[in-house]
Amino acid sequence: MTGPTWLDEGLEHIWLPYAQMKTAPRPVAVRSTHGTRIVLHDGRELVDGICSWWAAVHGYNHPYLLDAMRRQLELMPHVMLGGLAHEQAYTLATRLAALAPGDLSKVFFSESGSVAVEVALKIAVQWWRNTTGQVRSRFLAFRGGYHGDTFVTMSVCDPEDSMHSLFGPALPTQYIADLPVDDQSAADLDRLLETHRDIAAVIIEPLLQGAAGMRMHDIATLQRVRAACDQHGVPLIFDEIFTGFGRLGGMFAATVSGVTPDIMTLGKALTGGVTPLAATIASRRIYEAFHSDDATKALMHGPTYMGHALGCAAANASLDLFQSEPRLEQVAEIEKHLNAVLGPLRDGPQVADVRIRGSVGAVEMRQAFDVQAVRRRFIDEGVFIRPIGKTIYLAPSYTIDRDELTTLTEAIVRTAVG
Ligand SMILES: Cc1ncc(COP(=O)(O)O)c(C=O)c1O
Repeated sequence: MTGPTWLDEGLEHIWLPYAQMKTAPRPVAVRSTHGTRIVLHDGRELVDGICSWWAAVHGYNHPYLLDAMRRQLELMPHVMLGGLAHEQAYTLATRLAALAPGDLSKVFFSESGSVAVEVALKIAVQWWRNTTGQVRSRFLAFRGGYHGDTFVTMSVCDPEDSMHSLFGPALPTQYIADLPVDDQSAADLDRLLETHRDIAAVIIEPLLQGAAGMRMHDIATLQRVRAACDQHGVPLIFDEIFTGFGRLGGMFAATVSGVTPDIMTLGKALTGGVTPLAATIASRRIYEAFHSDDATKALMHGPTYMGHALGCAAANASLDLFQSEPRLEQVAEIEKHLNAVLGPLRDGPQVADVRIRGSVGAVEMRQAFDVQAVRRRFIDEGVFIRPIGKTIYLAPSYTIDRDELTTLTEAIVRTAVG
């Protein structure tokens, strides 16, 4: 296949994500997007099942988002937050503080999820230093977790199951525990926190481990993690970069579960998927340790594009849409459909598990399959679905209509039973 020219030329120079450039299949050239559709260079349209790494929750090109961004662009694409202030970042901080559960109310902006996690971990380390003078420099994370691709975030990912095992020797060593799904594993977690007084924070993807293949755990598991952290006075970080903004049926996994962390990270759908922006939100209790006459107690972090005005304008518009359009009801409808159509696949001989929560539906197959071949077949069938390992999943825009959702689920059903 040849063309378009920009693709042929650019392939000589571009270095793609998670790809062996020598053997990676040629990417599919996209001309434009609208709604839940990706329009290909050759004019075909794909129904998108994963809305660009789970971010475009209002669908593509939502006119309200685009208008808000156009207005902001005319006014001012961005000014730095060091010494200057602009309305979009300050308004967004106020709105996120109002939206976040518990006393999570102090918002630090960055430009990617990985950096938001780095900031959360950094806050935890310094919180210990500021409050007690203790040096606590390691973290406890869970098997199956994924928190980003930067160095310290790699170290809190699952050491074997993530794609970062190669870097093991270069990473700081952390404590990796099993999720406390029962009394035994809860006791193990408790023992780890009791024994290792160098643990600065516990970090978890609450209710849903996305990159591990949409693995889900129950609310009781999260409650056990919260209880263990409370018992040992260790801050708990919820990485809600995937689960935030309605994905699981409530605004956050914290809202869905009723379990509140001390620090929360947000990204992806924060801007409705149109520009990069991320946030780390700390509780007032955590923040108070930094609020001091002592300059050395300040948080020394400041990305160039933090609180990017255009991104914040998109995020404010995205929050407006959560108020003016029935997003959570749409997620509930998607969940109903996923249960009705994917749920029965549980009985299939080739299916190991079906996991559904909110707008996420995952079918895990028993046997490994040729992921690239399945991805290609999906595209030929007019859908964009990208299995992870043995798991075929959907995490679509909440605005997807019933026919489009049926197109996606039927493609999965054909693969799962075929
Ligand atoms: C739970 C979680 N944390 C962190 C990240 C990293 O975010 P980013 O890719 O914006 O750096 C991701 C990305 O998929 C994620 O799913």
